[in-house]
Amino acid sequence: MSKNKSGLLIVIEGIDGSGKSIQSQLLYQELLSRGIPAELLFEPTEGKYGKLIRKKLKNASLTPEEAFKLFVLDRKENVMKNILPALKAGKVIIMDRYYTSTIAYQGASGIPIQKILKEHQFAPEPDLVFIIDIPVSEAFKRLSKKNSDAFEKNFDFLERVRKMYLDLHKYINSKVIILDGRKELSQLHNEILKYTLEFIAKKHESLEGE
Ligand code: TYD
Repeated sequence: MSKNKSGLLIVIEGIDGSGKSIQSQLLYQELLSRGIPAELLFEPTEGKYGKLIRKKLKNASLTPEEAFKLFVLDRKENVMKNILPALKAGKVIIMDRYYTSTIAYQGASGIPIQKILKEHQFAPEPDLVFIIDIPVSEAFKRLSKKNSDAFEKNFDFLERVRKMYLDLHKYINSKVIILDGRKELSQLHNEILKYTLEFIAKKHESLEGE
């Protein structure tokens, strides 16, 4: 855990259809209701680069290199405008995707992991990363019920993304927790909450010990 910041950075990750967005929201609401100062952020953001990314993903008009550059630009804005100020204010930040998505997705599309990590030296490392893991076949079943875009529809690609997530602990120093995303919503929420509260308690203990 880095000591030059007072907040906590928690990231919820998973392939499309894994249920990470609903779990991020549930965790955020629960922390607030317990009086814990929290902030919910997501990427791609609603900023200018985030909007451009969503538009281009819909048309599937991005090369892997272009996508990589845009995700980094969007993230730089998010780090400067939202993440660093919230950490400084001592908040628990819940992120629905972060550079861990770039490692998984752009890594799976052929951008070297070392390059991805090098280009993210500006970004604070997460304290805790939850990977909500589901088989790609299950993701497809869920996605076919929504109207998801072309980018999300490639089975082999999502298999590679899933593998990247399962290997994520090799690439970053953050604590990575892999959860079975086929579990019921509330059970998964309780597991995420339990780990998060334990982590917050540990952080308080270590700060008191300093
Ligand atoms: P998102 O809005 O989270 O989609 P969903 O909620 O449907 O999962 O993300 C849009 C897409 O962008 C998603 O397919 C994952 C991809 N993505 C990347 O490829 N790299 C990144 O760094 C991020 C943040 C997202």
